Amino acid sequence: MKVLVVGATGFAGFPAARALARAGHLVYGLVRSAEKGKKLAAEEIIPIVGDALDPTPWLPIVAELDTVIDAVGGAVDLKAIGSSLLSAVAEAAQKYRPHDAPKLNYIYTSGTWVHGENRSNVVTDTTPLTSPTPLVAWRPAHERAVINNPILNGIVIRPALIYGRSASILATLFKNAYNGKVSWYGTPGGRYALIHVDDLAELYVLTAERATIAAGKIFDAANDFTESADDLLNKLVLISGAKGPYEYVEPSNLFESAITTTTLIRPYLARSVLGWQPRKAGLVDFLEVYYNAWKANEGLLTFTLTLVP
Ligand SMILES: *[C@@H]1O[C@H](CO)[C@@H](O)[C@H](O)[C@H]1NC(C)=O
Repeated sequence: MKVLVVGATGFAGFPAARALARAGHLVYGLVRSAEKGKKLAAEEIIPIVGDALDPTPWLPIVAELDTVIDAVGGAVDLKAIGSSLLSAVAEAAQKYRPHDAPKLNYIYTSGTWVHGENRSNVVTDTTPLTSPTPLVAWRPAHERAVINNPILNGIVIRPALIYGRSASILATLFKNAYNGKVSWYGTPGGRYALIHVDDLAELYVLTAERATIAAGKIFDAANDFTESADDLLNKLVLISGAKGPYEYVEPSNLFESAITTTTLIRPYLARSVLGWQPRKAGLVDFLEVYYNAWKANEGLLTFTLTLVP
């Protein structure tokens, strides 16, 4: 399969692109600089230097692709990029592909915050969205625009809070701990829906490969169980050597508020339709491994190699 990953050097996009390449696909990655392109080339991902918000120069590639993945994340204007990319790719598909060609698959990366906060009610992939977290209030409409697009074969993946490797959002928490104090946004009793970045990468592969049966579906990418925020912070105090006890702080903006979201997700759709099953240990169980992985990514891990006797 020929796949283009937009956001290919990002926290979710890079592991997804690598997993697709490992699965034998021809993977292109859109990057903003030649320097980042080298990082992709080293992973057998073909770099295309361009801008997601200025797609005209690179869109002709759509003519021969099977799948486009929007994995743009981070602090950029996700709403603007999401909608301009969707319409540009749809337009290009119409312009550059024969009318009788199979539909181009288009996988959009949303997030489970669209389910919103609720500490008592359990939700699934297909539970109607009634009160999204304010930061992503725009997103349910964009999810619908993707799956209802008449030109593309639209599919949505909603990652939960991502953990593992360089830690993404949790990097800020780990940094606080490393600096001696475990402080984090929220209130006691919160729970996190979580997904390891490697399991998420596997879901992108399965979704792309089975796109014809995944058409029009929205998958929650989350573990089978949620985890207690109190447990997480308590254990982080123990393993990081930070001065306890941990403390909760008031969020000061929409992003920090979103981090506090408790959604009790019981996902089923990617398991039943795609045969996907997360395999990584939970965040709290393997916290030391994940904390050390973050430290190693930051160049903060110091240890002495010892010979096994
Ligand atoms: C949680 O969900 C239930 C069922 O939809 C609803 O009745 C309740 O008001 C929600 N609670 C909050 C705090 O939103």
